[in-house]
Parts: sequence; C-alpha cells; structure tokens
Amino acid sequence: MQVLADAHALERRGADVIHLEVGEPDFATPEAIVEAGRRALAGGRVRYTAAQGTDDLRSGIAADYARAYGLSLDPERVVITAGASAGILLALAAATDAGDRVLLPDPGYACNRQFVSALGALPVLLPVPPEQGFQPTAKQVAAAWTPETRALMLASPANPTGTVLDPDELAAIAEVVRSRGGVLIVDEIYGRLVFDQAPLTALSAIPDAIVVNSFSKYYAMTGWRLGWMVVPAAWVEPVRRLAQNLFVAPSTLAQAAALAAFEPGTEAVLQARVRELAARRDFLLQALPGLGLEVRARPEGAFYIYTDSRVHGGNSEDLCRRILNEAGVALTPGTDFSPTSGAGHVRIAYTQPLVRLKEAMERLQALFSRGG
Ligand SMILES: Cc1ncc(COP(=O)(O)O)c(C=O)c1O
Repeated sequence: MQVLADAHALERRGADVIHLEVGEPDFATPEAIVEAGRRALAGGRVRYTAAQGTDDLRSGIAADYARAYGLSLDPERVVITAGASAGILLALAAATDAGDRVLLPDPGYACNRQFVSALGALPVLLPVPPEQGFQPTAKQVAAAWTPETRALMLASPANPTGTVLDPDELAAIAEVVRSRGGVLIVDEIYGRLVFDQAPLTALSAIPDAIVVNSFSKYYAMTGWRLGWMVVPAAWVEPVRRLAQNLFVAPSTLAQAAALAAFEPGTEAVLQARVRELAARRDFLLQALPGLGLEVRARPEGAFYIYTDSRVHGGNSEDLCRRILNEAGVALTPGTDFSPTSGAGHVRIAYTQPLVRLKEAMERLQALFSRGG
C-alpha cells in the first residue's frame, strides 16, 4: 500500500507508472454480473439477507462445485461472506480461543498474521522454502505442532508465490491435523486461476476442511466484497451466529449480481482470462532470469511471481523504491509476505496486459544495465 501511495504521488507529477504491485485483476467484472446487479438495484433489492447469505446463491455455489469438481455439496454448508477476508476471520474466530497457536506458511498472505493476532491467538510462521514449492510438508506440520496449536492455514495457489500444493501432500497434512484434533483452513481464493492443470478443491479429499473462497479474483469482483466458506455441518450454526453478530449479513446487491457468475457465457469469458494470465506468466518466467530475478519455484496459478532479487541487493524495500522512482515500475517488496525471506524477494503481480509487462521488463533491463 505504501508502494501504491508512492506510485500515485509520482503519477500526480506526470510519471507513467506500470502497476505490478496490487493483487487485483485488471479485468472488469463480467457484464452479465454487472447487469444482474443493475436489475437487483432497480428491483429494490436493498434490504438485509439472512446472515449466511441467500438460498439462491448458496445453491448456485453448491451446483458449481458439482459442475467443476463432481462434488455433491449440501448448500446448507455454504456460508456467504464479505470476501475471503470475512471468511478467514470467521474461520479463525470459530476455530481458536485466545492463546491458541495457528500455523501459517512463511511467505504468506500478510493479513492472516493480523487476523490471528487480532483474535488474541498466536501466529506461528512455518518457513516454506522454494525447494518445497513454497508450501508446507506434512512432516514439517507434524514437527511444528504443539499442544497449544489449534489450526493450520494454507493457500493453494498461494499469495505471493502462485505455487500449488501437491494433492497427496495436502492429504498427508490433513491427516496430521486431524490426528492432533486441529482445524485445517484452506484458502482457495485463487483455486480457479490455475494454468497447466485442472482446478481442484481440498474438499474432494478432505470433507472436514474449512474452505474459504471469494468472488474477488477469478470473477474480478474485488470491490463488490463477496466470498464464501464451506464448513462441516457441525460448524454451520456457530459460524452463522458469529457472522450474524460480526457482519449482520453480506451485501444483498453483490449476492444478487453474483448469481450470474455461474452462467455458461460468464464462464467462457473467465476461461479466456485464465489463458491470458497463463500467457503473461509464461512471458515473465522467460524474461525475469535475464534480469537476475530468479524464480525458484514454478508458479502454477494466481497472478503472482515471487522472485529472488538478492543480486540487486539484500533490501527489497530499497530496491522497490529505486525501481519505482527510476524506472516507473511498481512492485511489492517481499517483506510484506515474509519476515525471513522477504528482504531478498519482490512480488510481481501480472495484472497488466502483455504489452505493459514487456515495457516493464525493458525498463528494468535499462535500469539494471546502467547499474541502477
Ligand atoms: C490469499 C488471499 N486470501 C484472501 C484475500 C482477501 O480477498 P477478498 O477480496 O476476497 O477479501 C486475498 C487478497 O489479496 C488473498 O491474496
């Protein structure tokens, strides 16, 4: 966010900044969704819904799991939330008491640490090196688990690395968590944004996992603030009560609009975007090593690359500042995601068209070759 503020300050002075820092797709919300939102507004759909969301949307999501994953899911287990953010908060609030420990991969999505701390629980970082594809192993989880540990949070594909967790390793991790009486929370916000493989959900192999998801990224609805969770049957009532007390209900308008997300025409638009993101990733994977920016674990999804930037100095915040000021390219320092490896990494979000990515790489090439 600091990089974004600095980038906007530069733009106000007339600079052309290429924005590769924000974790938000450059695509518009598909027209069918916008139109459904317009209709809902015109029809006066402006009152609260049930705390767990509308029956229509929960059924629509359950039907989508059947279509996409061949999974039979009771819509009662779906809870609609204000983005994945509210889903993560509800999952952690339901799973933990003050003083409990929660295992989180490092590098990982920065807000998770804050959610855990805000609840009075203790975030415990699990360093996940590139040799492990920046994902935890079952062995590591078993070794890190203590009597105070209550939950493990994962994301696949992950932010900031875009790496996917191997399904066998995930099943082994779930077994460790289950054997300790813990809770496994899987963030699948980037689950449909995978490139060389079919999308998967942890629910296929782990029916008791708490799965968090969102309309923000795949459906390009960040500003609509809508997501969902799938919880075990025994969790529905406690999560519903928490949701009612904390949020009253998710956005009525966004829920009505999101019903159009599952229409075949919308799906075709979204799949074309996935192919576009894959082409962007492929371009960057081929361009970055020539700039000394090594990618040590292949990103299989999301729209992020976490590059090793140590040849350009050991302080990624300084490096990002220099790249922004001297090349007009906004990147995110790894320190946002990791207190251990972050100073030696930067995250590139390929949320700009290929032509802008090419220009960004040329600017970096010019900067580094003049010794900047
Ligand atoms: C891994 C991960 N989880 C959750 C979120 C929050 O998303 P939402 O907009 O659905 O609240 C983000 C946003 O960048 C994310 O990267």
